[in-house]
Amino acid sequence: VRLTAILALAAAALAVVTPGWGEGDPPTYADVAPILQDKCASCHMKGGIAPFALTSARDAVAHAQDILRMTQLGAMPPWPPAADSSLLVGQDKRILTAGEKDVIARWVAAGALVGTPVLAPKPAPAAPGLTLAPAGTYTPHAAVGGIDDYHCFLLLPRLASDVFVTSARVIPGQPSIVHHVILFEESGAQAALARQRDRASHGRGWTCFGGPNLGELTGGVQAAQDTLTHSRWLGVWVPGKATNDFPAGTGMLLPKSAVVVLQIHYNLIHPVRPDRTRAVLKTVPATTPLRPLETMLFPAPVELPCPAGATGALCSRDAALRQEARAYGQAASTIPFGLLYLCNKQLSDYPRQVGAGTSISTSCDRRISQPATIYGVGAHMHLRGVDIKVELNPGTPRAATLLHIPAWNFRWQDIYTLETPAAVEPGDVVRVSCRYDNSAANQPVVGDKRLAPRYVLWGEGTTDEMCLGALQVGAGIAADATRSPAAIRLAPGSWSRLLALCRL
Ligand code: HEC
Repeated sequence: VRLTAILALAAAALAVVTPGWGEGDPPTYADVAPILQDKCASCHMKGGIAPFALTSARDAVAHAQDILRMTQLGAMPPWPPAADSSLLVGQDKRILTAGEKDVIARWVAAGALVGTPVLAPKPAPAAPGLTLAPAGTYTPHAAVGGIDDYHCFLLLPRLASDVFVTSARVIPGQPSIVHHVILFEESGAQAALARQRDRASHGRGWTCFGGPNLGELTGGVQAAQDTLTHSRWLGVWVPGKATNDFPAGTGMLLPKSAVVVLQIHYNLIHPVRPDRTRAVLKTVPATTPLRPLETMLFPAPVELPCPAGATGALCSRDAALRQEARAYGQAASTIPFGLLYLCNKQLSDYPRQVGAGTSISTSCDRRISQPATIYGVGAHMHLRGVDIKVELNPGTPRAATLLHIPAWNFRWQDIYTLETPAAVEPGDVVRVSCRYDNSAANQPVVGDKRLAPRYVLWGEGTTDEMCLGALQVGAGIAADATRSPAAIRLAPGSWSRLLALCRL
């Protein structure tokens, strides 16, 4: 059915452009080459993330029909943010103009002619940087009997002086089994503990659900504060991520004594292979006048009851919580309560009867308590997510949608840089909202089996869910390289109390 629909669409597209044919010569490769170079080759090149190159006439001709289909559908180049999002850096490279689509359609319709040969453009040279990688490969295995492994490795930058990281590129060795990667910056006692974990594991790393697992769950509120101020996100990788450079004028401070913990969430839905994930950092001296960046997380509760008619044991919220406790530990199973608390919600705010379950929503409003500047915005859900939005001051004259992804695709995620950084004042509200499809037909497929519907909660497994906004925030001009504890805080106490409840 799908194929027929696509063919019909392509035919319709051709019919639309047919009248233009008579005007002048049909386009040749020379006409489409600049489009492919500008908007496709960054991924469609040798060694790029796409399965084939589009950097020569031969490549383009070989894939002409598919190029037509994907460009007319709007599926390539991939660009998930909708037009109501803020202007985002790089979107012009990811959105085809009507004129460009038209040239491609006419080129294919006229037989994908090569015409006068044009030289294949050279791929951009790989940027130099500081490459960090674990000592050896690691073969993931389900750490909790499910299909998920969270493993951490110690990386040593061996810096001569404090630096700002201006770009953090993570290169997963086995992208098909990597759900996410986070680079945590660790200093002081946390760094010592990371070295200890590394030694104890003979360099092979340690299991680390939630955070880097450096004691952040053991010491109550104080340890929770440490998680916030000591385990900063230096970089992140999610499927589809293309933005590696931090916003212009900003950087992530990395003291010379710091170590980096590489956390990899392996998602073992696909066949497992040994992995060695690398990180490439670009750095400048910490004396450079850059604004230090922090990553702030804005989670919302996830409460997705079973669709009507589903009767599995895990359709009970309590049973689903007990299973989460068994899989990820008691602390993990308190997160759903922590999120309700943080977001000032009650379970009764969420429906128990959801019909077919195709549209279940949640949201969370949080108040900012110190002035700050938002440079970048990301959003994260898992496999049942449909729509996610990160907004500022909704429902007020100062309302702005920072990011809206209306057709969520787990494989295309990024942290987007705002074209114009957004200034926020104390009292401003950040809202993250998510919508899910928890119907029987939309359950994740593991192996070749579709899972039975269940009550889905916030959880760390790929087949659990999340509703998470992430903001890259400028935390004040650095007077020197000493780290100030996160300069912006939410309403006093809310973070530490949440973090004491749950490991975020
Ligand atoms: C950000 C990276 C990226 C960019 C930019 C990009 N692609 Fe792709 N493309 C991919 C990846 C990765 C795949 C493999 C399928 C997937 O992951 O969806 C793909 C797949 C394709 C396919 C095969 C799809 C299929 O299912 O048969 C075509 C055709 C294609 N791309 C054309 C283009 C064209 C034309 C452009 C530019 C106008 C473009 N792509 C831009 C990453 C990209």
